[in-house]
Amino acid sequence: MTIQRVASKWAKTKILLKNKGLASYVPATRLYSLEALEDMLGTHTLVYIKPDRGTYGIGVMSVEQLHAQTADADEPPATSYKLRYEQKTELFPSLESLHKTLSALFQGKDYLIQQGIHLLRHKDRPFDLRVLTQKSPSGQWVSTGIIGRVAAKNKIITNHHSGGVVHHYKPLMLEHMTAQEAENIRKELNMLGVNVAGQLQKSYPNLKEIGLDVAIDERWNIWILEVNTKPALFPFKKFFKDPSIYKQVKKYANAYGRNLSGKKKAKKTG
Ligand SMILES: Nc1ncnc2c1ncn2[C@@H]1O[C@H](COP(=O)(O)OP(=O)(O)O)[C@@H](O)[C@H]1O
Ligand SMILES: [Mg+2]
Repeated sequence: MTIQRVASKWAKTKILLKNKGLASYVPATRLYSLEALEDMLGTHTLVYIKPDRGTYGIGVMSVEQLHAQTADADEPPATSYKLRYEQKTELFPSLESLHKTLSALFQGKDYLIQQGIHLLRHKDRPFDLRVLTQKSPSGQWVSTGIIGRVAAKNKIITNHHSGGVVHHYKPLMLEHMTAQEAENIRKELNMLGVNVAGQLQKSYPNLKEIGLDVAIDERWNIWILEVNTKPALFPFKKFFKDPSIYKQVKKYANAYGRNLSGKKKAKKTG
């Protein structure tokens, strides 16, 4: 049986939002339009804009709203918008000018706009987490590993393909909290992976594995940035001192028929 893969972030987001227990983990997300851009920047000073069917962080951008005090104190502060993508930064004086540039970058593809999360940092670089959840041979969803991913210098994304570096969960979190607090969050993340898999499985019965991209913000709120249905397994290989982690990942993957050499083509839906 083919392992189910779902490319559309929007399709997956809508399914998570149907579940009250999961909806609070999902940052505000809309399909991109000028109206959505205006609304989102009315509520959030930072937003992320990303291709609906993107991978590897390609095409992911952020926009931050800036307020500069004008010389005349009676005048309202001048608003400008800082667009960041790849290594570039551009400033725009109006939403319309920003929208024009964004539309040209989109090249006719669908994009999403999402509430930006201020990620925790390691050595002044943002990091997020990857939670791997797999179906066990006995048919239970099990979260089999969590890793941290630290962004490369001056990057707004943590993806490996963009120079992001994998770190162990615990030391990253201990820079911000106690061991007990980090363990509590680990438990919540393991449960979250299982619950997200269960919810997506209602719509995609042949799902076998998911990788949650999770952000922890400065108040330790947990946010699901996206759900990958074809998660990379290599970050879990050789990385942990304890080889039993990758052993279990591989055992489950072999049991549901994932080709670990990555040569076989998978069916995409959604
Ligand atoms: N809403 C957001 N707030 C903060 N960072 C984000 C947000 N969305 C994405 N990112 C950053 O960009 C990276 C790539 O975005 P993601 O949605 O995972 O797309 P991709 O499928 O390309 O990996 C994330 O791992 C995270 O580092
Ligand atoms: Mg991702």
